[in-house]
Amino acid sequence: MPTSLVTGAAGFIGSHLVDSLLERGHTVVALDDLSGGFRDNVDLRATFIEASCVDHERLSRLFHEYQFDYIFHLTAYAAEGLSHFIKRFNYTNNAIGTVNLINEAVNHNIKRFIFTSSIAVYGKNQLPMRETLTPAPEDSYGIAKYAVELDLKASHEMFGLDYVIFRPHNVYGERQNTGDKYRNVIGIFMNQTLAGEPFTIFGDGEQKRAFSYIGDIAPIMAESATHEGARNEIFNIGADTVYTVNTLASEVMRAMGGSSEIKHLPARNEVVDAWSDHSKVQRVFGTPPETPLSEGLRRMAEWVKKTGPRKSKPFEGIEIEKNLPPSWRQ
Ligand SMILES: NC(=O)c1ccc[n+]([C@@H]2O[C@H](COP(=O)([O-])OP(=O)(O)OC[C@H]3O[C@@H](n4cnc5c(N)ncnc54)[C@H](O)[C@@H]3O)[C@@H](O)[C@H]2O)c1
Repeated sequence: MPTSLVTGAAGFIGSHLVDSLLERGHTVVALDDLSGGFRDNVDLRATFIEASCVDHERLSRLFHEYQFDYIFHLTAYAAEGLSHFIKRFNYTNNAIGTVNLINEAVNHNIKRFIFTSSIAVYGKNQLPMRETLTPAPEDSYGIAKYAVELDLKASHEMFGLDYVIFRPHNVYGERQNTGDKYRNVIGIFMNQTLAGEPFTIFGDGEQKRAFSYIGDIAPIMAESATHEGARNEIFNIGADTVYTVNTLASEVMRAMGGSSEIKHLPARNEVVDAWSDHSKVQRVFGTPPETPLSEGLRRMAEWVKKTGPRKSKPFEGIEIEKNLPPSWRQ
């Protein structure tokens, strides 16, 4: 039986990945510092370790305690827009925290390092975003992700560490953190519905995204650990169908069974249109057809209504106030 370490395991994607690995017979050690995840997201069959990836001494002890076959590294503070204003925190958590894991992976001869990057690495690039494009990230979150991608390639060449890199986008579904006002637009809309508040949309709402249901993603990531065709490859992963944020808002209203007012906020400095080509992941893994947005939203809405509204706390460590969107100040 392989033993896998999943970091960020109490988070949204990580907890679904834990489920997929357990289904495949892996022994799973689930690590998370609970800064953005929830202990009850993690299946009780996994061994839970509360620790931060920034704490390299703790990681060292963990790697002496267990011989891991695979590392699935998902920890990050994934607030792309906010990352401009929290650079030190972003690079410490998302880049240094990852480098700590890469060191352990090399020192302990891990078979494969599976990393969740993001389509944020592409920046304002040509559409659809393809793996063959040269990344040009435009925010600190995307820059940290791309730095890690480059380091994985260098670590492969220098030390023979095998890796798989996934670049997901706009993933949604059950167990997502709906209480973080800086990220996860679907969760924000659903939370606003429960709180009886209007939906808030940055700009005119005509920015386009492809929203990807979690059930279409986690099993592929789990399979990638042993898939020969995935070794040392980079994959875009997620849905093909593109929606404007305005259309998304109507779909969320339908799924939640109500209607909400829409409040447009000043546009933020973000990539206007972002979607990617998935022919590579489809070719290598033979992915099933995507879950339609209406069906994915129905499942998520059912879960959100059971869980209830989550309170959004302001991020406490803003490092730069200049140009911070006013709605993020309170
Ligand atoms: N959700 C998306 O649409 C999306 C898109 C592209 C990439 N990703 C990437 O996928 C990964 C998972 O994202 P998610 O949506 O599940 O986010 P999430 O916030 O739900 O999960 C991240 C988890 O990591 C934990 N964490 C953060 N910093 C940590 C640290 N230093 N040490 C230990 N634990 C820490 C948090 O507590 C949280 O449980 C992230 O790396 C993110 O950048 C997500």
